[in-house]
Amino acid sequence: MKSIPVILDMDTGIDDALAILYALTSDKLRVLGITTCFGNGNIVNTTRNTLAIVELSPKTVPVYQGASHPLVSAWEPTAEAFHGPNGLGGTRIFRPLQQVERLSAVDFMRRSIEDNPREIVLVATARLTNIAGLLLAHSEVISLIKRIVIMGGAAFVPGNVTPVAEANIWGDPEAAWVVFQSGAPITMVGLDVTTKVPISDSMLASLSPHVPYHDVIQEAVNFYLAAYNPGVQPGKRTAPLHDPLAVGIAEDAQLCVTRPYPVDIELRGQLTRGMTVLDGRKRTTAASNIDVAVKVDGERFLRQFAQRLQFEILS
Ligand code: BDR
Ligand code: CA
Repeated sequence: MKSIPVILDMDTGIDDALAILYALTSDKLRVLGITTCFGNGNIVNTTRNTLAIVELSPKTVPVYQGASHPLVSAWEPTAEAFHGPNGLGGTRIFRPLQQVERLSAVDFMRRSIEDNPREIVLVATARLTNIAGLLLAHSEVISLIKRIVIMGGAAFVPGNVTPVAEANIWGDPEAAWVVFQSGAPITMVGLDVTTKVPISDSMLASLSPHVPYHDVIQEAVNFYLAAYNPGVQPGKRTAPLHDPLAVGIAEDAQLCVTRPYPVDIELRGQLTRGMTVLDGRKRTTAASNIDVAVKVDGERFLRQFAQRLQFEILS
């Protein structure tokens, strides 16, 4: 079977770290490289975290540094409560041996897409700043991108940073607007589905002690579970596997049901900036631009995720 060439665009991040491990244990995906973005930490931390996690994974892939702040607005760090001061729950990260590549994230994406026309899937699990930068500077690549799978947005459910906005869209709404309106084929893997695939205390406790990432993942995910469940006893906590699900859907689109909708990004609303505004009207004249994931086979995803990363039990 032909593998799918992908580029992961990430703000590593605890769930991004799990997504990297999931992608690098796939025999269906061929990860050409990982591009980094600010978000769950500053760009120095997210890039360092990415290099460290790659080093603990079974494959080596190049890492390219990207944006350190949003396209037009100021960066407002909001993720520390969920991802800790260094983006990985405060876990003491060793100094990775692998160095970041000299090529920029945008140049790497452009070059890879031009070399593999209509084959590459971009998996975006961060603010969309790098991808917007690519599409703005090199609009000729838009028709050469096979698909962009985005962890971001909230179609029919509340947001997670504000009542209506999800973190990856809220963190750079102008970038999200550029990408959503670009005409590229897009699958939106939003909170509607990512909140249906939780990791739990029992699953975490069952991680094989023999995997090289055991200690980092134990410490980081423990932080993540605590952050998502204030006041809840360890043992009863769960937290969403947002970013791994986006990788899962890039690998196997059958994991979810998608529906095409016109979706726009709110840029101005005092209470609604960063909202993914979906036009669900039956008689709308707006054209559908986004395939929105509305349902997920969570059981199948969690089974695969657990098997590949070597957790012995499911949530
Ligand atoms: C998204 O925001 C980030 O903090 C997570 O890594 C994930 O990509 C969830 O809203
Ligand atoms: Ca992320």
